[in-house]
Amino acid sequence: MCGVTGYLGQRAAAPILLDSLKRLEYRGYDSCGLVVLNDGGVALRRSVEPLDRFRTVILSENLPGTVGLAHTRWATHGVADALNAHPHSSCDGTILAVHNGVLENGDELRATLIRQGHRFTSDTDSETIPHLVEQSLREGQTMDAAFAALPRRLVGSYAVLLVHAKTDAIYALRRDSPLVIGVGDNEYFPASDIPSFLPLTSRVVYITQDEPLVIDRTGIHRIRQHSPAGGREPLDRLPVILDQNVTSLSKDSFEHYMLKEILEQASTLERLIEVPPEPLAKARALLQKASSIKLIGAGTSYHACLFGEHAFGVGAGLDVEACVSSEFEFRASLLRPGAVVVALSQSGETADTIHAVRSAQGRGAKVISVTNSEMSTLAQMSDLVIPLRSGPELAVAATKSYTSQLAVLLLLDQELAPWAVTDVRSLWKARDSILNLTSTAARAHIAELAHELAVRPEVFLMGRGPHYVTALEAALKLKEVAGLRAEAFHGGEMKHGPLALIEEGAPVVMFYDRAGMTRTEIAASELIARGALVFTVGEQRLRSSHLHVRADDAGKATPIPQIIPLQLLSYEIAKIRGRDPDHPRNLAKSVTVI
Ligand code: G6P
Repeated sequence: MCGVTGYLGQRAAAPILLDSLKRLEYRGYDSCGLVVLNDGGVALRRSVEPLDRFRTVILSENLPGTVGLAHTRWATHGVADALNAHPHSSCDGTILAVHNGVLENGDELRATLIRQGHRFTSDTDSETIPHLVEQSLREGQTMDAAFAALPRRLVGSYAVLLVHAKTDAIYALRRDSPLVIGVGDNEYFPASDIPSFLPLTSRVVYITQDEPLVIDRTGIHRIRQHSPAGGREPLDRLPVILDQNVTSLSKDSFEHYMLKEILEQASTLERLIEVPPEPLAKARALLQKASSIKLIGAGTSYHACLFGEHAFGVGAGLDVEACVSSEFEFRASLLRPGAVVVALSQSGETADTIHAVRSAQGRGAKVISVTNSEMSTLAQMSDLVIPLRSGPELAVAATKSYTSQLAVLLLLDQELAPWAVTDVRSLWKARDSILNLTSTAARAHIAELAHELAVRPEVFLMGRGPHYVTALEAALKLKEVAGLRAEAFHGGEMKHGPLALIEEGAPVVMFYDRAGMTRTEIAASELIARGALVFTVGEQRLRSSHLHVRADDAGKATPIPQIIPLQLLSYEIAKIRGRDPDHPRNLAKSVTVI
């Protein structure tokens, strides 16, 4: 949710910042802006135009200056317009800041600052930050002291980068919002996330909570907050060397990240099966002792939790329940002593999930996180981290991270009940089935189906047991990516209400495995009798299928291949309907606000 980035080095800052913004666009894309410092002067540019257009305009200006900040926004306070776009500045225009997060005391701070004579030009909570620093300077504090006072003044979450026109430096601070610093040769790339600078350096310094830092030509320094003498000390933390490579961030020859990421799933799955994440064994020890297990996640990750409820821990007789992160507070009081929380999150930065985990920890629960980002806030809070190792997922809609989450749950299940020996075998079958489903012929067939569905006002999806989870996840993809009204139902529930919605030509997509064919065939006849058009995803075609996509059974792992055609379908429909599959309207990949 919002991406912040900065540059301090020897090169012109503007082109580097613009490229970084492009790589952070998945975090929000309502508006964007940048500031470049040059000899005490400030070039501030903000826009609601798409980033590509903004980039062309700024590049044509050839802005001089080797220090700057930039921001891509997902609006929380105030509409998406140029005035609300970041960077925000102080009254005198010399202090500029970019912010990701939500300031809970933003209104209060704004009222106090207005009483002190400050003028605001936006509706954002973020604008209070440069004014707060300006106020401290007016009161005679040094720039370092003014910045280091922020954690005492701000309530809420923030990743802040701030510059002063007369200071050749970037100030950085975070609480509950991600912020890291890429370190090159005498150049620094502070940013919300690693992809922002990955093509430029693979060395990264992680920033801890409420640690005010200043980056200048001599390095990264920590500002002493509590010493009366003030001052700075060099940050003694060594950069971590990343093993991700630049190619994993490129679109290669694909038109969109979403397609690239869908097609990567046979290999992400294969990697997990061949080299299972090491912490699985440690997780077994924790889970076997658990009085109960709560699987927590948001969005697609919640759907993975629902799959877990069906597929995970059953053989070992464990009490497993899935909870939506944002709803966890209503269940938290039921947490028994000895409970273990398994938090699923691609980004590891979803505020709702972090909030739920914190509340579970407050009640004594141990936490295992399953995440694609081993250095994320969630990972750092957890007792144990199981990496998804899917590689960067940059399209906003989750695809490969979902199937990796299902696979990790099955690998974990195998750890708990090794006598079953079915999970790993079923994962290999799932891999083979994905290969078939992503073949050129299969994709052409799905494109045909896309043309049929793209013109419908709504789509219904049905499944029983774990296949209901696939229906839910497929409906989410159709909504967010294709912009279609899509609703999922439990197979057996159609006759208890939803049938009233079925009229002539209503499309219903049904997911099933071999064992569930007979029941699905009955449900399909009931639907067809009322005019529905039945589309099917399973190993064998139903007698009544209007159009069928063959997805071979893979035992317990069947939901892994079965979601692939619906991911592809959502992608194709988005294109037919003129939507950008990588950037669905109003959404962001990493939702760091509650
Ligand atoms: C956002 C994204 C979804 C994602 C959800 C949870 O809403 O748009 O695609 O499933 O966050 O994200 P997480 O990183 O916690 O898995």
